[in-house]
Amino acid sequence: MSLPSADADWWRNAVVYQVYPRSFADSDGDGIGDLDGVRAHVDHLARLGVDAVWLSPFYPSALADGGYDIDDHRDVAPELGDLAAFDAMTAALHEHGIRVIVDIVPNHTSDRHRWFRAALAAEPGSDERDRYVFRQGRGADGSEPPTDWESDFGGPAWTRLDDGWWYLHLFAPEQPDLNWDRRDVRDDYLETLAFWADRGVDGFRVDVANLLVKDLTEPLPDRAELATRTDGNHAYEDRDAVHEVYAEWRTLFDSYDPPRMAVAEAWVPAHRRARYASPESLGQAFNFDLLTAPWDAETWRRVIEENLDLAAESGSTSTWVLSNHDVIRHPSRYGITAAAGQPNEIGYIPAFGVDPEITVDTALGATRARAATLLMLALPGSAYLYQGEELGLFEVVEIDADKRQDPTFFRTGGERLGRDGCRVPLPWTSAPPSYGFSPEPAAAPPHLPQPAWFADLSLERETDDPTSSLSLYVAALALRRERAAGEGLTWVPAGPGVVHVVRPGGWHCLTNFGPEPVALPEGEVLLASGPLADGLVPADRTVWFREA
Ligand code: NOJ
Repeated sequence: MSLPSADADWWRNAVVYQVYPRSFADSDGDGIGDLDGVRAHVDHLARLGVDAVWLSPFYPSALADGGYDIDDHRDVAPELGDLAAFDAMTAALHEHGIRVIVDIVPNHTSDRHRWFRAALAAEPGSDERDRYVFRQGRGADGSEPPTDWESDFGGPAWTRLDDGWWYLHLFAPEQPDLNWDRRDVRDDYLETLAFWADRGVDGFRVDVANLLVKDLTEPLPDRAELATRTDGNHAYEDRDAVHEVYAEWRTLFDSYDPPRMAVAEAWVPAHRRARYASPESLGQAFNFDLLTAPWDAETWRRVIEENLDLAAESGSTSTWVLSNHDVIRHPSRYGITAAAGQPNEIGYIPAFGVDPEITVDTALGATRARAATLLMLALPGSAYLYQGEELGLFEVVEIDADKRQDPTFFRTGGERLGRDGCRVPLPWTSAPPSYGFSPEPAAAPPHLPQPAWFADLSLERETDDPTSSLSLYVAALALRRERAAGEGLTWVPAGPGVVHVVRPGGWHCLTNFGPEPVALPEGEVLLASGPLADGLVPADRTVWFREA
C-alpha cells in the first residue's frame, strides 16, 4: 500500500478505470451503486492494477441523463452517499496508490439547479435568464423553435416555456445550456474545480469540452449552414475561444502540488484535438478513433500513427479507449455481423438487437476484443478502461422498454436503443438475483435488469480461471507496468493484416487481424490474447513477446 507519489506526470501513461457509480456496487441494498460500494471494492481495482479511477457523475441529479444533469456540482447524490463517503472512498483509493478523477460537466446544469430555477422565476431579459440561452421563437406567434437545431439525443434542441420563450439544450430538455460569456458562470466553475481539488481529487474529466463557448449572434444559422462550418467557425462546436476558459482552469490546476490533470471529452476532428491536449489548455484529450475503427489492420495502423503524432504535437500523450458509458461494449461491437450504420457513435445503436438482420457473434466478438485490448495496452499513452470490460461483458440488449432509462431511447421513439446496455450493474458473483451487486436480501432490484448470462462473466467465476478475460487484464496490466519504459514506439515491417510494434526495451506486440495465420517471430512469448499453435499467430490474435 502506498500513497500516490507527487509525480506531476503520473497521468501520461496511466491506466484509468472508469466507474459509472450507479452501476458499480450497491452497499446498502437500494439497487443503486454508491460510493461506499466503490470503497468496498478497492481491492479489486488494486488487484487489477489500475493507476486511477475516473468517476462518472455522482452529484445530486434527477437522472434525466444518467447523472449528467447536475443539480449541485459540489455535493453527492443522497442515494450515492455524502461528502464524508466521498472522502472515505478517496482515502481508500489513495492508500492503494490509485488516483481519483471526477467528471466536470460545464456545458449545462440540470433544470433543477438553483440558477435555472431562478431563471424560470425571473422575467424575460433578466440577469437570471442571461445565465442560460433564451430566445424568442420563429413564426407569427413564436411557436416555432428559434432554429432547427437538434438535440444530441434526438428531437429539437429548444424547449418552450409557458411564457412563450424558448431555451437551448444541446442534450435533454432537463439540461439547459449555460452562457459561458458570463463572468459569474466562469467563476462558479473555478470554485467547483477548487472544491474538488481541495478535497484531494487528482484530476478532472471534462464533459463535452468543445461545446461551452457559443456565438449566438442573430440571425442564427440553420442546421444546413452549420454543417458547412468547421475549424472554429461553428456556432457552438469547438470555437477557439473555449481555450480561454481552459487557460484559467489550467492556472488553477497548476497552483496545486502536484498539478491537477484534466482530460477533455471533445468529439472534434483529429486535427483540432491537440489544442485541448496542450499544456496551456486541459493537457490531455480523449482520442475516440478506436471506437469508430473497424477491425482492420490498415485503419488501426493509421489511427495509432496519427494519434501518436498529434500527442507529440500537443506535448501530451495519446489516450486510447475501446469502451465507455456512451458506446456499445467492445466485445459486442466486434461481433456485429451485419452492416449496422455507425454502431459506435455516441449513444447511437441503430436497430441493434431490434433488427433481426443484425446479430452478434459473441465468440468472434470476444476473441477480437481480447486482441484489441492487448494491442491498446501495448501503446504509449494512457488507456481508459470502462467498468466491466475486464470481465469481458457484452452489451445487454434484452432490456424491456419500461425498464430503460436513456433519453436517447425515448426521444427517438425507441429507434435508437441508447446506452443502457453498457450501464447494467456489474456481476460480482454468480448468484442471482443481483449477482453480488447488492447485499441480499436487497430492498430493491438492480436499477437496470441483469441478464442470466452475467453468472458466467462474474468476478467470482473469472477470478481463478486462467483463460478468463479478468486473468488476461490482470496479467496485461502487470506486464505493462513492468515493461513500459519511455513513450517510444517503433513500427516493425509486417505483411497485410498485421500490426507489429516494438516498445523501448524490446517489448513487441503483434496483432494478426486475419484471416490467415502468420508466423510468430523469434522471441519469448510474454502474453497472448488466446492460444497460439505451432509457431503461428492465428487470426484475430495479439501476442506480446520479447526479443530472444
Ligand atoms: C457526454 C457524456 O459522456 C454523456 O454520457 C452525456 O449524455 C453527455 N455528455 C451530456 O452531458
